[in-house]
Amino acid sequence: MILITGGAGYIGAHVAVEWMDRGEDVLILDNLCNSERSAIERISTLAGRPPGFVYGDVRNRRLLDTLLRDYPIDAVVHCAGLKAVGESVREPLRYYDTNVGGSVVLCQAMAQAGVFRLVFSSSATVYGDCTRMPISETCTTGQPTNPYGMSKLMCENVMKSVAGSDPRWSIGLLRYFNPIGAHASGLLGEAPTSTPNNLLPYLLQVASGERQALSVYGRDYPTPDGTGVRDYIHVVDLAQGHTCALDALRERRGISVWNLGTGRGYSVLEVINAFEKVTGVPIPMTFEPRRPGDIACCWADPRKSLEELGWQARHSLESMLTDAWRWQCNQHRHEKIRQAN
Ligand code: NAD
Ligand code: UFG
Repeated sequence: MILITGGAGYIGAHVAVEWMDRGEDVLILDNLCNSERSAIERISTLAGRPPGFVYGDVRNRRLLDTLLRDYPIDAVVHCAGLKAVGESVREPLRYYDTNVGGSVVLCQAMAQAGVFRLVFSSSATVYGDCTRMPISETCTTGQPTNPYGMSKLMCENVMKSVAGSDPRWSIGLLRYFNPIGAHASGLLGEAPTSTPNNLLPYLLQVASGERQALSVYGRDYPTPDGTGVRDYIHVVDLAQGHTCALDALRERRGISVWNLGTGRGYSVLEVINAFEKVTGVPIPMTFEPRRPGDIACCWADPRKSLEELGWQARHSLESMLTDAWRWQCNQHRHEKIRQAN
């Protein structure tokens, strides 16, 4: 059985479905601060049986000790954390407490329970403003421009030290590029609770009429069309990267770092055009100045993940956008029904 912290969230829920699809068991620990209990029901529907679910906080050492004692957990996927960049600037202590503090408490509890296999949700943000593309795992980590990014780098450093202190640890740091898309069933996806910061959730809300226009931040970057370029990866591909990492870590000790990206970058305008093409829905947009802290380009060199995990992303940008739109339309329908009642 694996424990997924933050397993009711966007990425953790997809990992749960992938792992359960293999006939394995999952226990989810989540305090639902950025997700809903209905995610657990949706995972059950997709997996054909319910995952274990415990409502609670990953910083609660006593709770972790109990879970690691009472369930046959042999690995942990640590997705629980806060992820809004702007909010992290306003509330840095909450971010360090949850992201760094949560990771420290989790590692302590795991060590005490004798569970040493850990997969961590890291981010390409740890590379900072790396200018050489594509970014491989050997690129030095940079100086993230916000407390969120800093907290991810700090977590990685905590885990590196922990792995160095005891040879029984097997830790995989998964550096996500830009996860988008949704489960093809339309049952699982990203459900922002406040104004979205990221491109895709914002674009989806414009497409469904909840917002008027998409702001395109910066058209003067040194990129082919002047807008920022990112490596968008389908969340189901990303989830499969976790199952491959869990398998690989059975045979590896110490720290392993893997990029989870496609190796291909798309500009903001390319994403908008592709979305309009696959859905037929026009996206009103305005050009705005660059967003502070943004970099021009960021895409992965995914070769190490292919060589060491046998994993590579398979979904095209078009399929990411189609799946995301299906999810958005379902959400919108449910919201209307809820309002009507
Ligand atoms: P999410 O907010 O949808 O999921 C995180 C989950 O963790 C939520 O269900 C939330 O309720 C839970 N949680 C938060 N604090 C908790 C706590 N103290 N105790 C227990 N549960 C808690 O976010 P996501 O997109 O699924 O991201 C998962 C992880 O991946 C995060 O650590 C995030 O930083 C990282 N990440 C995400 C992205 C992205 O673009 N989505 C990119 C890079 C890294
Ligand atoms: N963008 C817009 N308009 C918007 C939102 C974004 O033009 O409304 C642009 C950005 O300027 C950027 C691109 O779209 O060029 C992607 O922006 P996102 O906010 O979607 O993603 P980022 O690459 O800035 O950041 C994301 C996560 C971080 C993570 C990073 C690397 O938000 O947490 O990917 O993994 F660290």
